[in-house]
Amino acid sequence: MRKKIEKYTYYTTEWQEHLKELEEDIQKSSYLPKFHLYPKTGLMNDPNGLSYFNGNYHVFYQWFPFDSFHGMKHWGHSTSKDLVTFEDQGFALIPDEEYEKNGAYSGNAFEHDGKLYLFYTANYKTETDKIAKQALAIMDKDGNITKTAQNPIINGAPKGFSQELRDPFVFERNGYFYLLLGGGRFLKEERTGFGDVGELLLYKSTNLLDWVYQGTIDLPIERGYMLECPSLVTIDGKDVLFLSPMGYEKETYRYHNRFASIYLVGHLDVEKRTFEMEYSDELDAGFDYYAPQSFYGKDHIPLTFGWFGCGEQVYPIDEEGWKHGLTTAQEMTLVYGKLRRFPTKELANYFTEKQTIKVENFKLNQPFYHLRFKLAKQEDAKICFGNKDDFWALIVDEKSQTMTVDRGQLAQAIDVEMGTKRTCEICELSDEITVDVFVDNSFIELYFNHGERVFSFRVFLESDQTTVSFDKLTEVTWAYFKNKE
Ligand code: FRU
Repeated sequence: MRKKIEKYTYYTTEWQEHLKELEEDIQKSSYLPKFHLYPKTGLMNDPNGLSYFNGNYHVFYQWFPFDSFHGMKHWGHSTSKDLVTFEDQGFALIPDEEYEKNGAYSGNAFEHDGKLYLFYTANYKTETDKIAKQALAIMDKDGNITKTAQNPIINGAPKGFSQELRDPFVFERNGYFYLLLGGGRFLKEERTGFGDVGELLLYKSTNLLDWVYQGTIDLPIERGYMLECPSLVTIDGKDVLFLSPMGYEKETYRYHNRFASIYLVGHLDVEKRTFEMEYSDELDAGFDYYAPQSFYGKDHIPLTFGWFGCGEQVYPIDEEGWKHGLTTAQEMTLVYGKLRRFPTKELANYFTEKQTIKVENFKLNQPFYHLRFKLAKQEDAKICFGNKDDFWALIVDEKSQTMTVDRGQLAQAIDVEMGTKRTCEICELSDEITVDVFVDNSFIELYFNHGERVFSFRVFLESDQTTVSFDKLTEVTWAYFKNKE
């Protein structure tokens, strides 16, 4: 029987033994991935502080280390040279100060004067509400992290806004530092809790410590009641803004998860506080994706990681004591003004035994593989992954010009209250659809036309042996993920 943990517990060395035991237990799970980051104990959510700093990639993440529920959030830390193999660095931020007494929430990293500035939300609850506090910790080149004495660097929400105001994202433009915060505004009387309409707030600074509120950014989109996790990169001279809105209405093929993640392409004018939008869409069509963060990698390449999860979900393995993970690192490009994201080239180097075969069905004897095949847009297709009474399927429907992932035939049902199918429209940019399937045990990423459309989702198949069956003879290239040393 596992020890019951109080929700707002933060780590001290007294917990070392407990976490070690939990970690050993979790290593026995049949569902651990090899090339996705997952929590060695407890629950992992949003990627935070993503950066390439001092010759290493740094991936921080939201982490409740003690159990598989959303408790007190710490920042965990991993480093990497290639974004495929990661070195665990343990705790980066432990919320042990009064101003962050309910957790160190999400934020980003900004390099300045040879140091990495880690901005985050200090979650601070009062008896009736919250006080929105933003905080800063600075990491030096040796990896020492110090919270600044000035914390909180922003204290409270501006008048008329909900105190659910969070996820600072700092960037530089025209010689000034800017900070974005996601939140919501009250339309009539001020209340406690969430606002009525989502807002993106802008702050300005000359020293990264003192921030002056500028106002909200005029966004030409539906904003729900709350915007979480803003982030921004520039690709080919265009701004790409990431947002995770809460409170979107379901559309025929979009926004079927608890919360949505979207991107906007255009131009952010920090003086006028406008976003001239050229295009916008949902980021992922799968069941388990939320709160992505974008950043620049080595040689300034635009990259992103997402949270492989979405809100409060029920998974069949919750009692194992670990939950969720992050997506692979994906490189982003703009093609005809639309975003594509695809795993970085480094991942391909880890796949071996590459073979191209013409088959109708074939057996893969371990659950870590990459498949590539092509589908015609003008023909129906159904491809099943798994075994007779336990499989998931990819379905292409010519008539409605859609692609569907169906999790309805799994022996271990997942989060069924949110539906068992996700559908999106077929890619527009070619007659053929190239499909890349990355299976990392229970973590699956499906890419259409190199990332024109993406589905990220979990499945918990009962056998390690998977039969992939196509409804006709198809040419497939497959490769196994080779074990990391
Ligand atoms: C998104 C989110 C963020 C918040 C964090 C807390 O999943 O709600 O807005 O900072 O998770 O863990």
